[in-house]
This record gives sequence, C-alpha cells and structure tokens, in this order.
Amino acid sequence: MPLIIVRNDITKMAVDAIVNAAKPSLLGGGGVDGAIHAAAGPELLSECATLGGCETGGARITGAYRLPCKYVIHTVGPVWRGGLFGERRLLASCYRSSLELAKERGCETVAFPLISAGVYGYPKDKAMRVAVDTVSAFLLENDMTVYLVVYGSQSLQLGRKLFPHVQEYIDDHYVEQHPTGSNRREDRWDAMSFSVSESLSIPAMRPKESRKQDHAPAPDQLAGSTTVALDSIFRELDESFQQMLLRKIDERGMTDAQCYKKANVDRKLFSKIRKDVNYKPSKPTAIAFAIALELDLPETESLLRKAGFALSPSSKFDVIIRYFIEHRNYDIFRINEVLFYYDQSLLGV
Ligand code: APR
Repeated sequence: MPLIIVRNDITKMAVDAIVNAAKPSLLGGGGVDGAIHAAAGPELLSECATLGGCETGGARITGAYRLPCKYVIHTVGPVWRGGLFGERRLLASCYRSSLELAKERGCETVAFPLISAGVYGYPKDKAMRVAVDTVSAFLLENDMTVYLVVYGSQSLQLGRKLFPHVQEYIDDHYVEQHPTGSNRREDRWDAMSFSVSESLSIPAMRPKESRKQDHAPAPDQLAGSTTVALDSIFRELDESFQQMLLRKIDERGMTDAQCYKKANVDRKLFSKIRKDVNYKPSKPTAIAFAIALELDLPETESLLRKAGFALSPSSKFDVIIRYFIEHRNYDIFRINEVLFYYDQSLLGV
C-alpha cells in the first residue's frame, strides 16, 4: 500500500528516511524537531550546522545516527497566517522536495509527520489534506511506500467533526452487533443486498457502449434476453476474484498500473494476483480494487463475494465504504483519511 496513515512516534519508524519539521536554521527546536534530535544524538545537530539552513518549502538530507532509519530529511514548513500567503503551495513544496530527495537517495520507504500542523499552526485537517494530495500525486508516478505519521490521539476527535455527513450516515446505517436475534434494520439491509445481488433480472450483457448499470431493462428486452442473462450469471458465478478483476480492468480500458495505483496497492502484490487465478485478497484489498474500478454497489458485492467477503451493517468499516460507493466518491485517499479517523483498517494491501 504506497500511502499509509499510521499513529506512531516518528522516531521509532524503521524506514529508509524520516522527515523532520525543522526551523530555517536547522539547529533543532521543540515538537517533532526536538524529538528527532533527542533520539538521533548530538551528531545530527553537528551535521545540520554544516548545511547553512534551509528555505521554507525546501529540504535537506543528513544521516540518522542513533535513529532506526538511514536518513533524516529536514524540511521547513510555512507558518499558518490564515491561508492567504501561499501557505498551501509552500507546504506542498515541503512534501515534494522531501520526496524528490528521498528518491535521489534510492529510499523505498519514507515517513512524514504532519508538517506545520503543530507550532506553526496549520489546521490539522488542512495539513492532512495537503499531505495526502501531494504524496498521492507523487506516488502516481513513483514506486515508494510513504507513511503519514499522526502523533497522539487528539486528531481522532478532530476527524469526527471533519466528516459530519459520514457520521450521519454511520448513525443511520451502522448496526451494533447483537448477540441474540438480529436488529430490524440489519434484516432490512441484508434483504436489500439479497434482492440486489440475487435478482434474476440482471440486464442482459448488452454491447459495452450501451450497457447502463443503473437502468432496469424494459420488459420486452428482459423476456428475449433471459437466456443470455442466465448465461452471464452462470459465467460470473464461475469467475474467480482475479478473473473478474482483470475483466473489469479491460472493460474500463485501464492499464494494470493505473488500476493498482488507484487502488493504493503496490506493484508486487498486483503481480501476485495476476499470476494466481485463485488468489484470495484481504477484504481491504478487494474493496480497494472495487474503488479503483469505480464499481457500483452490486458489482462491489459481486467482486467481494468472489474473495469470500460481504458488506455488513454491523461493520463500521463496511458502512463507511458503502457511504462512499453510494455517493460515487472513489477517491481512495479521502476514504483512507476517513477510515483512519474512525480507527479502521485502510484500503490497499
Ligand atoms: N512523531 C510524529 N509526529 C510528531 C512527534 C513525533 N515524535 N512529535 C510531534 N509530532 C507532530 C505534531 O503533533 C504535529 O502534528 O508533528 C507535527 C508537527 O508539529 P511541530 O513539531 O510543532 O512542527 P511544526 O508545526 O512544523 O513547527 C515547526 O516547531 O519545533 C519547532 O523547530 C521547530 O521551529 C520549528 C517549528
């Protein structure tokens, strides 16, 4: 999974490079800067003193000394002054310059804190958005695994305020698991998904250009095409997860790389799936491909069933996924931001 949001102390991350939110002098400070220098030892400060400082939005690279990583990349974020002084551009430049430096040194794994989101006052949700947008754009063109390290638990509450529509949807659709009996709403949801996925009135396999997933076929079309519809149902029943995935990639006119990058899945995993017709992915990976292919709910459920999974109202993760599919929002990085704030697994490998 190329972009992963984790809750951790960045000084503990055993990656190729960690990024420090430094001050222009690069001579240490508080916050993550202070934590990194404390963990690396005095040699880090001595090397930083030879660099002659760094401009806002720029980045410099040093050794890591006593830290469990190979390099420290020091970048200087913008101070938040209300958002009208180029802060977003400068913050994006911090991530881009740091990633370019990491790439030059052949780093495969990099960990970032939320730059400027502490002492420099950048609103955490906006800082996260800039980080996710900039890093995901870089990862469309480059193979690297990037961790966004969120520190402490305070940002969890922030999340719930951030996504009121998602919270509303969860309140309406999430069903606590009841040990005895089932909740009326859960029956309704199961019944609904049963009727959608088991219905025999699946439109016949009309030619690609005219196929409309959302429109039920007119009665005359249905009568004449029932045999064709049944053939396609039986063919789909035989299809493995991998076969349906590859068929959908072709139908969407996508390349493999476009699909797995949009699914936030790394190349190695995708080649494993391509080589094994019976490959069974994890649920987050199966859903990540449904999102990358922009499948509607019935197709998502069909793909999930082939991996042995189903969407359930008693899983907050599933309810959040259903929200995004029903609202046709297939931005996997936005979805992962929300999943992270609700302490759920992220989409991708
Ligand atoms: N691991 C990961 N993230 C951390 C850690 C840590 N050990 N410590 C703090 N953070 C997080 C904060 O919660 C915040 O979200 O790093 C983010 C950036 O906060 P700051 O460290 O305050 O950095 P910034 O806002 O960019 O301000 C930089 O502060 O410490 C001084 O010398 C530094 O002058 C510079 C300024």
